[in-house]
Amino acid sequence: MTTATDSYNITTLNEFVIRRQADFPYAKGELSRLLHHVGVAAKVVNKKINKAGLVDILGRAGDVNVQGEDVQKLDLFANHHFIAALRATSECCAIASEEDQEITLFDDGLSRDAKYVFCMDPLDGSSNLDVNVSVGTIFSIYRRVTERGEHPDLSDFMQPGTEQVAAGYVIYGSSTMLVYTTGKGVHGFTLDPTIGEFCLSNPNIMTPQQGTIYSINEGNYAHFPQGVKKYLKYCQVVDPDTHRPYTSRYIGSLVSDFHRNLLKGGVFMYPSTRKAPSGKLRLLYECNPIAFIAEQAGGKASDGVGRILEIQPKDLHQRVPFYVGSRAMVEDVEAMLAEHP
Ligand code: AHG
Ligand code: MN
Ligand code: MN
Ligand code: MN
Repeated sequence: MTTATDSYNITTLNEFVIRRQADFPYAKGELSRLLHHVGVAAKVVNKKINKAGLVDILGRAGDVNVQGEDVQKLDLFANHHFIAALRATSECCAIASEEDQEITLFDDGLSRDAKYVFCMDPLDGSSNLDVNVSVGTIFSIYRRVTERGEHPDLSDFMQPGTEQVAAGYVIYGSSTMLVYTTGKGVHGFTLDPTIGEFCLSNPNIMTPQQGTIYSINEGNYAHFPQGVKKYLKYCQVVDPDTHRPYTSRYIGSLVSDFHRNLLKGGVFMYPSTRKAPSGKLRLLYECNPIAFIAEQAGGKASDGVGRILEIQPKDLHQRVPFYVGSRAMVEDVEAMLAEHP
């Protein structure tokens, strides 16, 4: 058996990011440094998650966040470490996080001149932590709209997803991976723990146009729009010509569910429900980055009616219905929703 370290033909995340700087002739290395520090923070969080069962970091922190969810201790740990790592780069002037009601400003020293802002879900799927299921981190980077040297503000974050400069996620799974895009394809790196480096393992990821997996929390069936109910029945019909019935897979961690479907082909759905008319997932730090990656991999991301990336955000913690994955499957759901809203 060979591992990445048996061969000197390794491309590390840092090397790859620096090489790809040539895709952007005017780049001065700021984004590369930012991505490097995301990788460092991911390694710190990864170490902690691996040990979660051994030290007193599982379980609730005792607070309820702005989303109305129980905050887990590791939510806070991941939030803290990503913020600290990004502050250290001086390449980003403000952060929006799922765990913080307001944006965090780095408007002192060098950071005030930084040209990027950062959105993140520091720990995605955190309610799964206690049972040892894969969790993740999702991030998204925008160029600020306020002047460099001025105070950054909310307007820097109220940009549609089409303006993302980079987006990605880390999945803390059976192995730890970092997947990212800067709008020139999607690239995946696997953490080799023996050398502590993210090594290029999945260059130029493309997702199948048509898959056979559907992922949804079917427990909410009674509250789904008619079009989604129709689509679920369609997935379950026996039709060998179209490889139906499809396979149902749902972990309950967006990053893990999306990552599986990205590689294998499938559709992930978090519809509006009667209880939550805007769905559950958050536009800025969950749907936009995942949508950017999906599109770059040849897939599609929709709120059921239109393109996720074109939604003009109105609120930091705004939620949207989310349908993402293989292009043909997302189009089938959209068609059924159009007929049965
Ligand atoms: P987070 O842990 O960051 O709050 O995100 C949880 C999200 C997402 O990861 C997942 O797809 C979804 O919640 C699952 O929701 P249900 O438990 O309602 O299925
Ligand atoms: Mn949460
Ligand atoms: Mn999440
Ligand atoms: Mn989270």
